[in-house]
Amino acid sequence: MRKPLVAGNWKMHNTLEEGRTLIAGIKAGHVPDGKVEVLVCPPFTLLYPLSTELEGTDIKLGAQNVYCEEKGAFTGEISPVMLKAAGCSYVIIGHSERRHVLGELGDLLHRKVRVALAAGVDVIYCLGETLEQREAHRTEAVVEQQFTEALGDDVDPRRVVLAYEPVWAIGTGLTATPEQAQAVHAFLRAKAMGIWGREASDNLRILYGGSVKADNAASLMTCPDVDGALVGGACLRAESFLAIVGAAADSV
Ligand code: PGA
Repeated sequence: MRKPLVAGNWKMHNTLEEGRTLIAGIKAGHVPDGKVEVLVCPPFTLLYPLSTELEGTDIKLGAQNVYCEEKGAFTGEISPVMLKAAGCSYVIIGHSERRHVLGELGDLLHRKVRVALAAGVDVIYCLGETLEQREAHRTEAVVEQQFTEALGDDVDPRRVVLAYEPVWAIGTGLTATPEQAQAVHAFLRAKAMGIWGREASDNLRILYGGSVKADNAASLMTCPDVDGALVGGACLRAESFLAIVGAAADSV
């Protein structure tokens, strides 16, 4: 039985005061006991101060990015050891904005995954096709390549969560239909089985991301291979984030 994970990717939003207000709103709302894992991923500068706000709650803290070295002369970068020390249990790697806006390629992501896991930070690894790739019927080939370029049998599958995020659905208001999401999630789970075996693939959580909102979360979460959501825009308000957490709890 996979416990759903609902992760809020704050992206480059919120000052410390705004972040504190958002966390207070989430804490004040109803987070169903133990049924869903809830994660917030604020910008780097908010991680440590917000970790103290989350003490004593079940809400976990994650980062949106990491560098592929533990320490050294890498001006402007943040290492997974620093994320761990700031209270992070997860880091998002391979988000489409990092791939497409910042130009991150498979080789770098491969290294990031391993160095994050070595530092004790679990990985949410994102993959997904562009609209052009979908229309050219290349969705499976694209996500398969993204999977194999960064993950493999040297990676502990119990410490990895996949997030299928079709690029055309991120921040656009377009959402994959439950059927479209389910098809890719089932494909990814089969791929995971080929690498890690049945038990690991049965336990692997695969999140959907891309314009998940309070009103479409329930239909996505009922898909057998959708195990939660990576939420952008709708995580910036406590009310809509909590509604998605609630939908995940109801799907269990
Ligand atoms: P969105 O972002 O919910 O605003 O589409 C999702 C993501 O980029 O993780």
